[in-house]
Amino acid sequence: MKFGHFDDQKKEYVIEKYATPLPWINYLGSDSFFTLLSNTAGGYSFYKDARLRRVTRYRYNNLPLDQDGFHIYIKDGESIWNPGWQPVQSELDSYQCRHGLGYSVITGSKNGIEARQELLVPKHDNILLQRVTIRNNSTAAKDIDMFSFVEFCLWDAMDDSTNFQRNYSTGEVEVEGNVIYHKTEYRERRDHYAIFYTNKPFDSFDTSRESFMGLYGSPRNPQAVLQGRCGNSLAHGWQPVGAHHFHLHLESGESFSVIIGLGYVEVPVAEKFIAPSVINKKNAYELINKYSTDEQFDQAMNNLKDFWDNLLAGFEVHTDNEIVNRMVNIWNAYQCMVTFNMSRSASYFESGIGRGMGFRDSCQDLLGFVHMIPEKARERILDIAATQKADGGAYHQYQPLTKKGNSDIGGGFNDDPLWLIACTDAYIRETGDWDILKEKVDFDNNPELADTLLEHLRRSFNYTLNNLGPHKLPLIGRADWNDCLNLNCFSEHPGESFQITGPSEGPVAESVFIAGMFVKYGREYANILSHLGIREEADKAYRAVEQMSKTILESGWDGEWFLRAYDAFGQKVGSHECDEGQIFIEPQGMCIMAGVGVETGQAQKALDSVKERLDTRFGIVLNNPAYTTYRLNLGEISSYPPGYKENAGIFCHNNPWVIFAETIMGHGDRAFELYKKTCPAFLEEISEIHRTEPYVYCQMVAGKDAPTFGEGKNSWLTGTAAWTFTVLTEGILGIQPDYEGLTINPCIPHTVRQFKVNRLFRGTMYHITIDNPDGVEKGVRAIKVNGESVPVGPLPLTADKEVNVEITMG
Ligand code: GLC
Ligand code: GLC
Repeated sequence: MKFGHFDDQKKEYVIEKYATPLPWINYLGSDSFFTLLSNTAGGYSFYKDARLRRVTRYRYNNLPLDQDGFHIYIKDGESIWNPGWQPVQSELDSYQCRHGLGYSVITGSKNGIEARQELLVPKHDNILLQRVTIRNNSTAAKDIDMFSFVEFCLWDAMDDSTNFQRNYSTGEVEVEGNVIYHKTEYRERRDHYAIFYTNKPFDSFDTSRESFMGLYGSPRNPQAVLQGRCGNSLAHGWQPVGAHHFHLHLESGESFSVIIGLGYVEVPVAEKFIAPSVINKKNAYELINKYSTDEQFDQAMNNLKDFWDNLLAGFEVHTDNEIVNRMVNIWNAYQCMVTFNMSRSASYFESGIGRGMGFRDSCQDLLGFVHMIPEKARERILDIAATQKADGGAYHQYQPLTKKGNSDIGGGFNDDPLWLIACTDAYIRETGDWDILKEKVDFDNNPELADTLLEHLRRSFNYTLNNLGPHKLPLIGRADWNDCLNLNCFSEHPGESFQITGPSEGPVAESVFIAGMFVKYGREYANILSHLGIREEADKAYRAVEQMSKTILESGWDGEWFLRAYDAFGQKVGSHECDEGQIFIEPQGMCIMAGVGVETGQAQKALDSVKERLDTRFGIVLNNPAYTTYRLNLGEISSYPPGYKENAGIFCHNNPWVIFAETIMGHGDRAFELYKKTCPAFLEEISEIHRTEPYVYCQMVAGKDAPTFGEGKNSWLTGTAAWTFTVLTEGILGIQPDYEGLTINPCIPHTVRQFKVNRLFRGTMYHITIDNPDGVEKGVRAIKVNGESVPVGPLPLTADKEVNVEITMG
């Protein structure tokens, strides 16, 4: 069942039924101020850090779902409703939510009144803007009351939801003119406050939650709304809120609109007060003046649209499949930008108070946005590298505010260092900026240990070689990509961390997956050295990579597929000899991406085994058979009920690795078949099963062993966004940025006869037409640039702004 439709022209998803299977959200903001917004106007705002600077409060796991947000209430006689349906849940005569790129528009109507909320966060300013328009479409004049409401968070979201003995006494507000100031803790160490203003005078207001809601009242029946008037309350402690009330008399056909801003304002410490206890409002006035008229609002909206149009224009595909076009040209790219901004911090499944930036996550996310924002990608690489440890290992996470490695979780996740090579190589291929390798970057955030980025890559590479186990395969440490395969942990007590309990960096447990990574990214490292003319070291690196490739075939091959690992006792994991967990997806994808067994037959066998044992109609499960009991020697993976998360769930992130593998083998039909299985826009028709947003990827879909097979969870913040974008654009469409130029080598379904791509690469817009007259799946036989034949190979770089390219497959 569908709950809406795509409007590709406007780059929007249009939700037409408010009771979506889960709240379907959007992200507003792309610089410092962010808002998560659901299709019923639920959500919250924060400045930079969802934990430390939370502007409004949000209760996760709440009942009913998704009650906190940016709601507008309408009181029309006895009838009370919200344009977004929540939280009152009065039936509406019409409803629509348009989620666009960085903005959303929610429209509801009832009894002849239409109410529209347009919401956006403008570029470069710390404010959520709303324009609310109320229109009387009925034949008679009406007197109605309209209310806005937000609940402030007392800044530190963790403290806010736990430390009530203090927090019930700290809340402070001020009201002046049309502005509510939320200034909790400003009297002491904070240099920031929030504002909630309107561009027209309101009739009454509230800043105390109890006054607005009433004692024992709730968002579903706020006392102020029921009585048609706020109490002009000033909050002292308890729960500061912002509510504005407008009494409206609307003739038939008349409308009223108001701009409502929720802003975050900083003040230099020395200028916090203009008189004892009188806060300095100058910066607030400036912000308000920038966003007080319809023209300013419209301009902000237009700027936002230009920003996104521009960003997305760098990669545009036209195929005969509109779903592919909309994923590449709009939604997949958009999701990659959201993962750039949010990492794994704030979604409807990530509370914003949990983990920092993941080392491996951030490196992989970069693969999906490097072509859109290369300068920011550069900065990100240097930030990540600065947290690397001097021995080449990595802190598993770092904090975005301090940019320092997080020592609570520490290091020892032995795949981490190799991802730094992956993202740096992708960056160089995209930009040709070899100079980045000369940048001096701290180790362990210590300037005294700083060395070049190239030296960081060298230590990443050597870290694997310095940590080999009994079979000469890489030691796994606390975990590799699969955080839940904890072969050195042996956790027996509830509440212990699975990853960092026990003798975590054991000398025996080995990972075939990291071995595959070493072959793939180790070779990229050797290519870099060779390009730089560091010959001897390059040759040595190539030899180490070759050796690892042999080792995989000797000790990491199970007969029909690649083994997953050896545990702390040297026992096989992911072998036909095991009772459960006989085959895993990760080494099949990674080893073949690295080219292991491609010439000698193992790769094809492994892909056949994936098809036979792991494939389902919703994608490839992580392992099979699922573990049915908890196993000390395997850790968190076996803690999940069968079919969920890492225990035989369809972990969308690594499905693209198998798709890549299929493209390497030249199987365009199969690659595209697999692509469609996890692609959200292809699942739109079964939204009642898939449940998460049809416009973005989720981390996990319940696998075939789960009672809820096909159900998605953890949408938005997942490495799936970057990997599917990469596999579709580079593996299937075959547009591959390379050191010397763009290489075009598609691997497509044999039925596709033609497609076109516009790709901005190193300052040149390539207009590429790919023809497939013989209906092959892979292979390029001729290339023309601006009408002239050129040899098959990378397209030569040029100073021209535009180039026409014709590719003939066959
Ligand atoms: C989560 C983590 C990621 C990990 C994956 C598999 O998505 O963010 O780092 O690789 O799970 O365990
Ligand atoms: C993986 C899991 C995630 C878990 C983390 C640490 O990333 O996907 O659910 O929080 O490992 O255990």
